[in-house]
Amino acid sequence: MSNKIIFSGVQPTGEIHIGNYLGAISQFVSNQDEYKSIFSIVDLHAITIPQNPKELLNRTRQVLAIFLASGIDPTKNIIFNQSQVAEHTQLAWILNCTARVGWLNRMTQFKDKAGKNKENASIGLYTYPILMAADILLYSASHVPVGDDQKQHLELARDIAHKFNTDYDTDIFRLPEPLLNKSSTRIMSLRDGSKKMSKSDISEYSRILMTDSNDEITIKIKKAKTDSMNMPSSSEEAGNRPEIENLLNIYCACSGESKDIIISDFSGKEISSFKNELTKVIISIVEPIAIKTKELLNDQDYLDNILKKGSDNARQIAKQKIKDLYKIIGMSE
Ligand code: TYM
Repeated sequence: MSNKIIFSGVQPTGEIHIGNYLGAISQFVSNQDEYKSIFSIVDLHAITIPQNPKELLNRTRQVLAIFLASGIDPTKNIIFNQSQVAEHTQLAWILNCTARVGWLNRMTQFKDKAGKNKENASIGLYTYPILMAADILLYSASHVPVGDDQKQHLELARDIAHKFNTDYDTDIFRLPEPLLNKSSTRIMSLRDGSKKMSKSDISEYSRILMTDSNDEITIKIKKAKTDSMNMPSSSEEAGNRPEIENLLNIYCACSGESKDIIISDFSGKEISSFKNELTKVIISIVEPIAIKTKELLNDQDYLDNILKKGSDNARQIAKQKIKDLYKIIGMSE
């Protein structure tokens, strides 16, 4: 296996939105020629909160279809559903014995997701970052493209890898680095510039889905919350106006233009004229992906074959890692 290895995962919960695409999936695509890449649709992570069994597999297929429609090449990369490679849970147990309770207690995503109802959250939701560490460490990933919300989990994966290596005097685990997309590492809700765009937000106007029609995108951007001033004339001014800053970030990430150029192009103009242009650049990204996704979803056998092949390939790598680990831990010779 080449030295530069990417691993990343996306949960098949809710529908994939433009935050997932700009923060993570677009990076999967742009890095696939440079890195050996392994992408997992992490259904074991999904069940940390209740999922409808009748929908889960279709949601997995939908994430796969969006991966492919976005340009991930299934012949070059490994794409698989996590539950089909049992070694993930096997390694997660071993890492449960390395990770410290104090480390997990610091994870902010658990606090956000469990909210006030912490006592009633599943244990899986609490230990979720350990499964995530297992995903990454199993494949010796050097880099992990993710949005900013996963950075803390990645640091935990590094801490676990380092402690295991030290405890057992080995270098079996490689310490992974995050790959963050500068302008889109944290896309915010269209309804509230202080909240991350999220699959689970109750307002569907808070996010643009990668399967939205052009009309839906137009309405969502029209309704996107902003202040009532004209467009900012400097990045400092934009930085003090979170909703506008977020829309500018989306514009930059979709168009590939630098923020300074966009700010100077729209400086002092009405927000509505910026929103019209923003709608166009978003549609230029989402429309072809939405069309292709729909097409791909008509061919379930094709999608299932990719997952099957991907799981078989992933399992081969994972099995070897567990074999090596068992020797190190003293479970086999
Ligand atoms: P998930 O499914 O919540 O999100 C998938 C990817 O999208 C990124 N993302 C965002 N990026 C920018 N702005 C946003 N508003 C936004 N919302 C989500 C996420 O950072 C992520 O990269 N724990 C992971 C899944 C996972 C994983 C892994 C990732 C499991 N094992 C191993 C990397 C490596 C998660 O829940 O992602």
